[in-house]
Amino acid sequence: MRRVFVVAIDGPAASGKGTLARKLAAHYGFAYLDTGSLYRAVGVGAIAMGKSPADEAAALEAALSLDVSRIDEKAIRTREAGEAASLVAVMPAVRAAILRFQRDFATKPPGGKPGSVLDGRDIGTVVCPDADVKIFVTASPEIRAHRRWLELKGSGSTVSETQVLEDTRERDRRDSERAASPMKPAHDAHLLDTTDLSIEAAFGEAVRIIDKSMS
Ligand code: DC
Repeated sequence: MRRVFVVAIDGPAASGKGTLARKLAAHYGFAYLDTGSLYRAVGVGAIAMGKSPADEAAALEAALSLDVSRIDEKAIRTREAGEAASLVAVMPAVRAAILRFQRDFATKPPGGKPGSVLDGRDIGTVVCPDADVKIFVTASPEIRAHRRWLELKGSGSTVSETQVLEDTRERDRRDSERAASPMKPAHDAHLLDTTDLSIEAAFGEAVRIIDKSMS
């Protein structure tokens, strides 16, 4: 069978993992999946049903009826969508409902691509424990909150940086303390701290790690 090269990128919110994963996929000609967008779409789906994202039945219904080809990119990028995602992500039934899609994407990437890059919180630990390369991207909460605040401001939000830092700490706590697939580095993950690194420098470091494991 055709061998697919799988790259797992995990890390907390606004660590730079999404930008890094997207650049890596383009560089190697691999397929890219932002798994956070699935949880965001489920959270937004529950809200669209007139329910709270904390309502398990509504969240599960949204997960089971999720159509990934119809995710509204704009609607899932708001601060509220991020909060809703973090609420539905604690539910084991929601995680189970979207696990198969993620695994299929990783091992049978669309377009017959020779590899895949998935980013999230539990790719290296749960979704793709056999990934060829695992990178856990981190950065200080302050720098992550600053990056997210700039992004939000750019899209017209008036939220304060202090509020974004508070949200960031709360999301970190929820993502890493939940019982179901908590965010943590896999034992065989490479740690990449981007606090003092530019996107280009982080990309260069990740390429070095991946090239080494390909050779
Ligand atoms: O990366 P992000 O901010 O788009 O993720 C949104 C939320 O989804 C985050 O709070 C945690 C959750 N998530 C998860 O639990 N597992 C993943 N593989 C990806 C995201």
